[in-house]
Amino acid sequence: MGSHASDRRSGRVIAIDGPAASGKSSVARELARRLGFIYVNSGGFYRAITWYLLGKNIRPEENDLIAAALDAAALTCTVTDNESRILVNDMDPANHLRDDRVNETVSRVSRLARVRQIVSQKLHDCAAARDVVIEGRDIGSVVFPDSPYKFYIDASPEVRLKRRAAQGERDEIAMRDHDDVSRAVSPLVIAADAYVIDTSRVTIEQVVNEILTRLGQKGLPSSDVHITDARAR
Ligand code: DC
Repeated sequence: MGSHASDRRSGRVIAIDGPAASGKSSVARELARRLGFIYVNSGGFYRAITWYLLGKNIRPEENDLIAAALDAAALTCTVTDNESRILVNDMDPANHLRDDRVNETVSRVSRLARVRQIVSQKLHDCAAARDVVIEGRDIGSVVFPDSPYKFYIDASPEVRLKRRAAQGERDEIAMRDHDDVSRAVSPLVIAADAYVIDTSRVTIEQVVNEILTRLGQKGLPSSDVHITDARAR
């Protein structure tokens, strides 16, 4: 191993943060595809944990039960088709992550310090020795503060509400915004060195191209990056 003080070998991490339905998942997934990086959806980790706790009838207020249940559970981060996924005791909750009851509960589960600690550790495990694009709320601000590649993707509340409705989902955007921004541990904030993009009036492709241009300026060249139109209005 090298002589670095860090005992953690990490690949390159591109952090994409932003509020619910801002377009960050589509942007992060497409960006990862264009770069040949692994796409990691950190919200999926909180959702998988929420799904697991709901299945055990544990409520978000039951701190001790949650800590005990999670200590006893095996959470595994795997990669399939260039995307991360989390298994809980070898079960794959992928088809349940966007259930109404998970949508309703996930903010309250994700505000617990122990839960955030576990997810943060899993994200570092996932990023070890891999190049990743990770989307979430606190990836650039808290989980990978040393990443030089930070983006904050936003859109107006009206546009975000319409996007969720178009996906056929009932999601209390305003309430989740409030929860995400006001929680004590790792609230949603814009990292001081993040590059902010409003996606209300631009396409996913335009946003991805803007990010690729920015990454190129920051010295992240990739032989398989093809910038078609870097000008997002
Ligand atoms: O991105 P999403 O809507 O799937 O995220 C689900 C919830 O998880 C969201 O309400 C806030 C929480 N979350 C978080 O607190 N920190 C992250 N890095 C990602 C998600």
